Amino acid sequence: MEKSREHWRYRIWFIAAAVGSAVGLGNVWKFPYITGENGGSAFILVYLFFIVVVGLSGVIGELALGRAAQLNPVGTYYQLSDRKGFWYLAGILGVITGFVILSYYSVVAGWAIAYIFKSVKDFYDFSEAAGATQVFTDFKTNPLAPLVFHGIFMFLCASIVVSGVQSGLEKWNKILMPSLLIILLVLLLRSLTLPGAGRGVEFLFQPDFSKISFKAVLIALGHACFTLSLGMGAMITYGSYLNSRENIVSAGIVIAACDTVIALLAGLVIFPAVFATGGEPGVGPSLIFEILPVVFYHMPLGIFFGCCFFIFLFIAALTSGISILEVVAAYFIDEKGWSRRKSVILMTGIIFLLGIPSSLSFGILENLKLFNLNFFDLMDHFAANYGLPLGIVLMSIFINWHWGVRNFIKELNVRSPKKILVVGLKVLFGFLLPGLVLVVIICQLFS
Ligand code: TRP
Repeated sequence: MEKSREHWRYRIWFIAAAVGSAVGLGNVWKFPYITGENGGSAFILVYLFFIVVVGLSGVIGELALGRAAQLNPVGTYYQLSDRKGFWYLAGILGVITGFVILSYYSVVAGWAIAYIFKSVKDFYDFSEAAGATQVFTDFKTNPLAPLVFHGIFMFLCASIVVSGVQSGLEKWNKILMPSLLIILLVLLLRSLTLPGAGRGVEFLFQPDFSKISFKAVLIALGHACFTLSLGMGAMITYGSYLNSRENIVSAGIVIAACDTVIALLAGLVIFPAVFATGGEPGVGPSLIFEILPVVFYHMPLGIFFGCCFFIFLFIAALTSGISILEVVAAYFIDEKGWSRRKSVILMTGIIFLLGIPSSLSFGILENLKLFNLNFFDLMDHFAANYGLPLGIVLMSIFINWHWGVRNFIKELNVRSPKKILVVGLKVLFGFLLPGLVLVVIICQLFS
């Protein structure tokens, strides 16, 4: 089975796919609003620190594991622990987390698709904030419309993933990622040339450390992992389609750097526009659905730029969604011997069903609460705040205490490593990385 495993055809398109996985709703929807809520540029500095220390090592670690085993996350842990013990459960946790994340991720991605149309059709309702809020509330509380778009998003993910690595993932990332960059540059030019844009730029780049709280530090760490698609084996799976010649370290650096630059550029699109039209940056999750349409209404050619923005958001979500579906599909293909078609169709169906209560929790299921969270928040809370961090802790413990740093270094194609490298990596994967992330998990438990 391993011989016939499909591989990426070109390094550049593998990197495009991995950047596609990393750049998603996290960058365009979440990063701007958490930055807005937590004091702007000081928060960004903390976030950058975690990207380098935790994120970069996480990406390189996951890619190396996947490439070494040439298998899905469950198979990877099983194989590299010599088919003994319970390590495969770390992979199972990843697959389950992926399942859950995609189910609600797809709901928000569906909103993005809907807003491509709404930014044209409802344009005149966006003349003031109250109108935009009304449009968003009417849409998300409607039982049917968001479900249809959630279904469309899952269908699109499935149609790409069903064609496999080269004619599915590689081909579509090759088309979607350059389009994403072009739209981003167009939006950037528009936003930065608005009168008053400077205040937004200032907000992003002039640090005010008095605004950094302990909670902000936790949010920054959690987001550094989420935005790089870490903790559920997405990078393990993409790494498993790499051949042994690729340089994983440089790939990891490029992936982390591109993701960060695109998040910052998305911030540079959103904040100057928000400030230029007198909006408030700290409004939270509804920032891009309620505030931005008003911003677009008031700028020249607003219909065009609004539509572009939501196409941009949709593409970013699609290239991430397919990377999550691929993890789930690859598990059933590698481990259960299912055909790709069967695996993708069945899993898409189940994920769609699981997404239904998430979608409805903004309307008819609003009052269905557990731990004071509605279904959507519950899924997000457990998967993103516990599932992913736990996945990262297990991965780094596995690399240091089970697979061994020497095997890891070998996988990075480093011959005769210096002692300092070995010790450094042991400290990093054995203590620093799991320690930092455990602190976050524990603090969340008691907060
Ligand atoms: N990184 C993506 C984003 O920023 C989301 C994502 C894709 C993801 N694959 C993942 C998050 C795997 C966690 C794990 O939107």
